[in-house]
Amino acid sequence: MSSPLHTLLIYLLTVIVTVTAKSTGKWTLLQSNIGITAMHMQLLPNDRVLIYDRTDFGASNISLPNGKCRKDRNDYVLKQDCTAHSIEFDIASNSFRPLMVQTDVWCSSASLMPDGTIVQTGGFNDGDHVVRVYKSCDECDWKEIKSGLINRRWYATNHLLPGGRQIIVGGRRQYNYEFYPRISSKQKAYTFPFLVQTNDPNLENNLYPFVFLNTDGNLFIFANNRAILFDYSRNKVIKTYPTIPGGDPRNYPSTGSAVLLPLRIVRGNVTVVEVLVCGGAPKGAFVNAQKGKFDGALKTCGRIRISDSKPKWVMETMPLARLMGDMLLLPNGDVLIINGGSAGSAGWEYGRNPVLHPVVYRPDSSLGRRFQIQTASTIPRMYHSTAILVRDGRVLVGGSNPHIYYNFTNVLYPTELRFEAFSPSYLDSQLASSRPKILPDSQTQFGYGNRVIIRFMVFGHVDPKSVYVTMVAPSFNTHSFSMNQRLLILEGGNTTKPIGQARYEVMVTTPPSCNVAPANYYLLFVVHREIPSEGIWVKIG
Ligand SMILES: *[C@@H]1O[C@H](CO)[C@@H](O)[C@H](O)[C@H]1NC(C)=O
Ligand SMILES: *[C@@H]1O[C@H](CO)[C@@H](O)[C@H](O)[C@H]1NC(C)=O
Ligand SMILES: *[C@@H]1O[C@H](CO)[C@@H](O)[C@H](O)[C@H]1NC(C)=O
Ligand SMILES: *[C@@H]1O[C@H](CO)[C@@H](O)[C@H](O)[C@H]1NC(C)=O
Repeated sequence: MSSPLHTLLIYLLTVIVTVTAKSTGKWTLLQSNIGITAMHMQLLPNDRVLIYDRTDFGASNISLPNGKCRKDRNDYVLKQDCTAHSIEFDIASNSFRPLMVQTDVWCSSASLMPDGTIVQTGGFNDGDHVVRVYKSCDECDWKEIKSGLINRRWYATNHLLPGGRQIIVGGRRQYNYEFYPRISSKQKAYTFPFLVQTNDPNLENNLYPFVFLNTDGNLFIFANNRAILFDYSRNKVIKTYPTIPGGDPRNYPSTGSAVLLPLRIVRGNVTVVEVLVCGGAPKGAFVNAQKGKFDGALKTCGRIRISDSKPKWVMETMPLARLMGDMLLLPNGDVLIINGGSAGSAGWEYGRNPVLHPVVYRPDSSLGRRFQIQTASTIPRMYHSTAILVRDGRVLVGGSNPHIYYNFTNVLYPTELRFEAFSPSYLDSQLASSRPKILPDSQTQFGYGNRVIIRFMVFGHVDPKSVYVTMVAPSFNTHSFSMNQRLLILEGGNTTKPIGQARYEVMVTTPPSCNVAPANYYLLFVVHREIPSEGIWVKIG
């Protein structure tokens, strides 16, 4: 076939390929073996990453330090285990060290706290009521609080609240929530009928619910195929949102993902709050996968303006169907959808057809033009894989252990110890002259609603209209959901003015309240023409 139409098609394809090949990101293998599979990840304010998997499924590939061993008669596989199931990864030196976790942390949840520690909750078996604290330093290790939780928490979701506590929502057969630290010593868990209503018999489909703090102080909670706005302080449903069109489930084991879209502060407030839910597996996919039938993953995303008086879902179609994807807010406000597969279900051995290409979603582009396929990795990242944004703008990707044991061979998707970084296109070297660099004298401790000056360098001309400043909360990632994830676009980016050779300053107003930005560490970025600087750590509150 060599018709003019054919020639035209080839020409068009070449144009598309050259355009996309220029700017679709890059993958780098950081470590060929970090010893454990990265089932849970959290970035710390000293640019280290806490990583852990589970303790009860055999020997990992990294020994505990100094010949230490862990004795645990509750373990299913090894009663004495001399390998580590947690590590601390240091981004600057690309190195890691093993940590000792005593009880089982499998499928648990956590949050970074305002004092820079990670407070982790629950897990399985002897770990299901345990709270664990990790504060990073060269020699630090996990500390465990035996009966820290009121109820067992396995597959729960945590969120940091404006008052500095965490809320822990649900978990397997837990139709309730609790707070950590507890409000009083006699406190019981609060019943939460929404988790009963959204529980599919034998399928669940509402584990690891998607929880976001709305800017009015209530929680938006999505489970299965619908959501509510919830006042946790009065145990009261404020608003019930419509069911997502199509009605397919989006939470474990149908595992899609969700983000709170960037929160833009205008005249001292955030008035438009939107949530985007993408991918998952159709209802019944889990049961079908158990019978060897692997249903195609969902290709749709639903976007909803949760701040509207009559909110409606607007559906969009992804270029690639995906379940077990991770959705991450990039410093410039784009959403990266990464990891996962395109058939089957979450759960042991039930995922198929890895989706190796990430996709970028641009929330502000017009409908139908928001998605762009990115460069593929070569490593399948199936069940129990993770991804987090780090300060330099890269996304670290690890994990994938779809087996009940550490099976490194003889299985379809062997347990994955390779650790990678995805560098979004804004890190391309040809963009170096437009990339801002925040100068070291910038302020890093803020109150609410403060005016602060950020100084930065850029070579080349800067149009103040092309500058904005963002703050990103470092999130806890597991099971395709990033807890606490939020990005704020501060007011005042357009005040950028030159202060010397290639030097500029911008006066921005910090977030108005702890409902918009709970007190904690955040990464602050100056973004110029959608290219973010390296972040700096700031602390608000
Ligand atoms: C890790 O795996 C390698 C290759 O199989 C093996 O030689 C090494 O002993 C393992 N290390 C540990 C601590 O299990
Ligand atoms: C900010 O916006 C929220 C949501 O629209 C609203 O509930 C709140 O009253 C506003 N606050 C101020 C100070 O305007
Ligand atoms: C996976 O590992 C477990 C424990 O080592 C072993 O019993 C099982 O046979 C392995 N499965 C396969 C398919 O190799
Ligand atoms: C920046 O934008 C705000 C909001 O649109 C506007 O009120 C303000 O006048 C602008 N400032 C400058 C210096 O352009």
